[in-house]
Amino acid sequence: MIGVLVSGNGSNLQALLDAALPVSAVASNRMGAYALVRARDAGVSTATFSLDCHADRAERDLVMATWLEEHGVELVVLAGYMHLLTTPFLQRFPDRVINIHPSLLPAFPGARAIDDALAAGVETTGVSVHYVDEGLDSGPLIAQEHVPVEPRATLVERIHSVEHRLLPQVVRDLCPAAR
Ligand code: GRF
Repeated sequence: MIGVLVSGNGSNLQALLDAALPVSAVASNRMGAYALVRARDAGVSTATFSLDCHADRAERDLVMATWLEEHGVELVVLAGYMHLLTTPFLQRFPDRVINIHPSLLPAFPGARAIDDALAAGVETTGVSVHYVDEGLDSGPLIAQEHVPVEPRATLVERIHSVEHRLLPQVVRDLCPAAR
C-alpha cells in the first residue's frame, strides 16, 4: 500500500489515484490542503498532522508514521509535501520514502525550483524523482526527465504534465503490489 504526503493542490496525488495505484492513506501538515478533498473524493483515508498539535517536529513525524503503518503503508510518496522529514520518520520507512521535484536535481532544490531555473537562464530544466533523506530535495535519484525551458509561457504546465506521467511510472516500478 502507498501513503502520500501532501501540503497543497494535490495534482500529483490525483495522477496516482487516476493510475489506480493502491493509495491507502493521505496525510497533510495543513488542514486546508485541497489534496485532502481529492483523497476523500476517491474514498481514501486522510489525516492532518499539524505542527501546532505536537511538541516538536520529531514527535509529529512519529505519530504520522504510526498512522501510515496502521493503514498498511509500505511506500511513502511526497507529492508537494512542504516540510522536511525527521530521522525518526525516515527510520520507520528505510529506503521507502520518495519525492517528486520540478527541476533536474541537484540543480534548484527548494520551493521555488521553476522560478529559480527561469531566473538562472538555463535552457533545460526538468523533473526528478528521488529517495528522501533529511536534507532539502537531496537523496539518491531514481528518475529524471528533461524539459526545455522555451516556450516559457507553458513551462509550468509542461513540467506538471511530465510529473503526472513520471511519478505514477516510478511508483508502479517500486511497488510490487501495483504491477
Ligand atoms: C509539484 O511541482 C512537485 O514537484 C513539487 O510540488 C508541486 C506539488 O504540486 N514538490 P501538486 O500539489 O501535486 O499539484
